Amino acid sequence: MDILEPIKQRRSIRKFKKDSIPTEVIDKILEAGSWAPSGLNNQPWRFMVLEANEKDAIAQFTKYSSIIKAADKIILVFMDKDASYSYEKDLMAIGACIQNMLLYAHKQGIGSCWLGEILNQRKEVQKHLGILENLELEAVIALGYPAEKGEKGERLALNKLMIK
Ligand SMILES: Cc1cc2nc3c(=O)[nH]c(=O)nc-3n(C[C@H](O)[C@H](O)[C@H](O)COP(=O)(O)O)c2cc1C
Repeated sequence: MDILEPIKQRRSIRKFKKDSIPTEVIDKILEAGSWAPSGLNNQPWRFMVLEANEKDAIAQFTKYSSIIKAADKIILVFMDKDASYSYEKDLMAIGACIQNMLLYAHKQGIGSCWLGEILNQRKEVQKHLGILENLELEAVIALGYPAEKGEKGERLALNKLMIK
């Protein structure tokens, strides 16, 4: 199995069909996230899945509200500070966790968009949800069946990335 193709084909999807993603598929996406590597295998990620009105209420905290409203479901990804041993490394592990989820979703024909701008209002989101201080919101992932192809994928050529 060549994993490079799905890695390259995945695009951020910001427009979604109305169809609902089955709970079992969402569970598999979360399972994919949970198999990410983490320092000391501390697995600092925690998840919350929201849909319908509860999902839409989160849209007020980002300028990308239309993406949240169009999505069937959103996954909020938190760092559990009680499980954390190094803020920097735990953030990296959570990034790996999120990428696992995006790739697994893509392979299942589900579109996703990693939303980071919402972190500008992290405190407000957490207050709205009544989330305790030991958890820190790191990203929101919008999910749904794609109603667009996404932008043309573009990346720097490898020779632009090499230091030597
Ligand atoms: C940390 C991070 C934060 C992001 N935040 C947003 C966001 O707030 N809104 C949005 O529309 N896309 C967001 N994106 C998606 C990027 O714009 C997208 O991944 C990038 O343009 C490359 O496009 P591709 O995912 O289609 O390959 C974010 C991606 C990452 C990794």
